[in-house]
Amino acid sequence: MSFDGYKSTINEGDTVILYLTISQIYSVKAESKVINKKGNEVENVFQTPYGALKCSELIGKTYGSKISLSKGWGYILQPTPELWTITLPHRTQIIYTPDISMIILQLEISPGSIVIESGTGSGSLSHALIRAIKPHGHLYTFDFHEVRTKTALQEFKEHGLDNYVSVNHRDVCTNGFGDELNGKADAVFLDLPHPWLAIHHSIKSLKETGGRICSFSPCIEQVQKTCQELSNLGFQEIQTMEVLQTQYNVQTRSIPVLDMEFLKTPKLENVEKKERDTIKFNTAVQPAQQPGHTGYLTFGTLYPIWARKVRISLDGDCDEIDS
Ligand SMILES: C[S@@+](CC[C@H](N)C(=O)[O-])C[C@H]1O[C@@H](n2cnc3c(N)ncnc32)[C@H](O)[C@@H]1O
Repeated sequence: MSFDGYKSTINEGDTVILYLTISQIYSVKAESKVINKKGNEVENVFQTPYGALKCSELIGKTYGSKISLSKGWGYILQPTPELWTITLPHRTQIIYTPDISMIILQLEISPGSIVIESGTGSGSLSHALIRAIKPHGHLYTFDFHEVRTKTALQEFKEHGLDNYVSVNHRDVCTNGFGDELNGKADAVFLDLPHPWLAIHHSIKSLKETGGRICSFSPCIEQVQKTCQELSNLGFQEIQTMEVLQTQYNVQTRSIPVLDMEFLKTPKLENVEKKERDTIKFNTAVQPAQQPGHTGYLTFGTLYPIWARKVRISLDGDCDEIDS
């Protein structure tokens, strides 16, 4: 239950983040026993670069404490959407925290929001959306890959989040989000290969008071089609952006000390000595290589008047549109 609020003690079945180093972080289930490939119940042992961890030893420990491994030690941390995103089992490409932050801000998602998401994928974004809409909001997430929907639902249950999310198995480009969601959503998020095919369905699901939409696409050709469709269907404030995170490394650098007197009357015999006068200091430098492009985020707003008119138009009653 630890995703649904802070708790101090780890219980059987909880998810734990095992932190070894900045680049060695894992999610581990605090389960004493597992079923092996032969169908036998065996002790659950998690292997790390610093040796084995018997998962039964996690149970009863306090989140944040240090734990011994057979060849070292690590810290056992409370899971958060951010830590889940960097440790979750990948079933698809996922959305990472820099993009997620921008999505939640731009879609104006807050506690109580009703949000639609497709596809569910590996549930990376879903976990962050659920935290943002809790405790009174709801996430409706859709994927046409049945196994992915079942696995995502299982994870939400294990993380104590299933009250905040409904997982649906459906092709949203062909079948939309369902009549039961008509006029219910504050925001729609699309991470699909053909997002422009789901935009007219999104309009039906957005509230009559309007709402925001976001589409995440890796390729600019997808963005062009999406923007065209958003514009055709009356969305305003259409904006595409890319979130690029720059991570600075802290390094020690040496620089020559600037001697103003020497600069005024430089003498050749002092040059060698002057070059040896250096000071060392810590500074932040950009890495030679940086994480690059993930995808473009395209946002649009459907204003109340358009929400009503376009919905009527999509239902085929064009007279009302002109009134
Ligand atoms: C890149 S993944 C989504 C990853 C997710 N945003 C995350 O952060 O974990 C795209 C998902 O969309 C699903 N998908 C593709 N086309 C779809 C459609 N027409 N209807 C519903 N789901 C679809 C795929 O099965 C896949 O799981």
